[in-house]
Amino acid sequence: MDHDRIAVIDFGGQYAHLIATKVRRQGVFAEIRQPEDPIEAFADYRGIIISGSPSLSAYGEDSRYTKAIYDLDVPIVGFCFGHQEIAKHYGGKVKHAGREWGRADLRIQGEHPLFAGLGPVEQVWMSHYDSVVDVGPEFQELGYSTTADGSPQHRYAAIGSDSLKRYGVQFHPEVDDTVNGDQIIANFVFRICGCTASWSMEGYLEEQLASIRAQVGDRSVFLLASGGVDSTVAAVLIGRAVGSERLHLLHIDNGLMRKDESAQVVALFGDLGLGDNLHFADASAEFLGALEGVVDPERKRRIIGDTFIDVFQAEAARLGIENHLLAQGTIYPDTIETGGTVRADTIKTHHNRVPIIEEMIAQGKVIEPLVDLYKVEVRELGERLGIPPEVLARHPFPGPGLGVRLLGNDGQPDREGLDAIGPALEAVGERFGLHAMPLPIRSVGVKADLRAYEHPVLLSGSASWQDLVEATSVITGDVPGINRCIWNLGRGVPEVAIPMAATVTRERLDLLREADHLVMEALRRHDLYDDVWQCPTVLVPLDLDGTGGELVVVRPIRSQRAMTATSVDLPVKMLDELREGVLGLEGISGLALDLTSKPPGTIEWE
Ligand code: XMP
Repeated sequence: MDHDRIAVIDFGGQYAHLIATKVRRQGVFAEIRQPEDPIEAFADYRGIIISGSPSLSAYGEDSRYTKAIYDLDVPIVGFCFGHQEIAKHYGGKVKHAGREWGRADLRIQGEHPLFAGLGPVEQVWMSHYDSVVDVGPEFQELGYSTTADGSPQHRYAAIGSDSLKRYGVQFHPEVDDTVNGDQIIANFVFRICGCTASWSMEGYLEEQLASIRAQVGDRSVFLLASGGVDSTVAAVLIGRAVGSERLHLLHIDNGLMRKDESAQVVALFGDLGLGDNLHFADASAEFLGALEGVVDPERKRRIIGDTFIDVFQAEAARLGIENHLLAQGTIYPDTIETGGTVRADTIKTHHNRVPIIEEMIAQGKVIEPLVDLYKVEVRELGERLGIPPEVLARHPFPGPGLGVRLLGNDGQPDREGLDAIGPALEAVGERFGLHAMPLPIRSVGVKADLRAYEHPVLLSGSASWQDLVEATSVITGDVPGINRCIWNLGRGVPEVAIPMAATVTRERLDLLREADHLVMEALRRHDLYDDVWQCPTVLVPLDLDGTGGELVVVRPIRSQRAMTATSVDLPVKMLDELREGVLGLEGISGLALDLTSKPPGTIEWE
């Protein structure tokens, strides 16, 4: 079935994806287009939305994108940066005219289809430094933002030209703080573009079942099943379409999985009725062998990726997959270069590019039934397919698994720059009543969009969550060479932290698996699993009490798409339980909670 479609021009990853998701929620299919896409790529849309941008300004330099869209006879609306671009293109002016950030009131003037069903004053969400200060002759002001007393603050917060079918709003209708944002998006899509709502998950499921059957014909399908949400939903969908006898699944245990995870994945596929042709390869010895003695994080990642390809190739040859169609659980954001987290897909990209797969793609032997869907939609589809909610709610797990959560060390203290920052740290510690000790190791972070491999600081003492987060923000912001703060949950205040030589070994992995298991169980017990987006547990080879044991760091975060993250305050009772459990493990000398947001810290430590 042909659906009406809306194009969203992506000037800033997260905003554009949010807009597309919201349009789809209205039952109209939305696709992301890049600013430089050729004009032909914009054919066949009923309307175009130009997204906001976190970094670009319409003021000053000429912005680069396919301006031929303005010659198309379809409605176009711009949000924030997009609004300013539209105003500028048709003879308006954009200036630095004072910033607006956060909630604002929009006073709507007169009646307009874009604001149908809304009141005269609407709460909207603004985030801009530049403003439209004048519009071209064909445009009218549809609304302005107001100050607390209701007088105009920024003119032209909403503009439109019905003859040109061009519109713009300075605010962001796609964020929840714009209370009636969904209505504005619906008004554009239905009233202005004239779309019909025909896109639904139920319809998608039926369409996909038919299209998978047509593509597969009488062949068999092969799928690599990690146990993650995407590959699981793809497996069940294909099994439903062609029958489990014709679906071959391969699960590889790389030795870097969570406690009992591979066994659970194998059991899960049995429960889902897909156990007939499930192949399991325990490749942990190969992975751990390849990682022996390696400390450097990037080298570790590369080795894990390369070994994965080797194992996959060998298993694929053994199982004769060239004779099958290959299915992959690729989802929509994976296919878009500027959106999502590019690095999160390195492993996927790796095995998507193995020569044997390249060949199969060239021969039209690859199917990707989730390629149009966002993660939330994949979950919705999974629900319709009857996959248990706890499987669909699983936290994302990085391709290299626990390999990036098991820090290595050469045993030499790395104290570069630490002596010089002593007084600065002491001053912050005094201000918040905390003891602040820099640690002689490093972890990855991100500052001003650049990778920062810097030291963590261990904060000890009692303070409110707000103060802990504030202290972290002051330290990572003001003290050079620090990108992370962790809060000591161990007993007493450590005087020293001694680095120990450590690499990837089965013993250390088993210890990390135990600690990680305790943390995940505690999250579930306290009903926090769904509220927390991801919670890495990291094993750091630092001895805090002279017993030769290591430090465990717990990193619960909330996030939208892993681009940014905030740390999560865990209940006191849960922290007590973790103290009891984790510090009770043999080989552990300390426990700490990561307080750092992203930026400046990354979600993973390596
Ligand atoms: P960072 O640490 O960059 O992580 O804040 C962002 C998200 O990506 C995941 N991650 C990875 N996923 N291969 C993956 O498949 C990797 O090498 C990798 N590194 C980080 C991380 O778990 C988080 O969800």
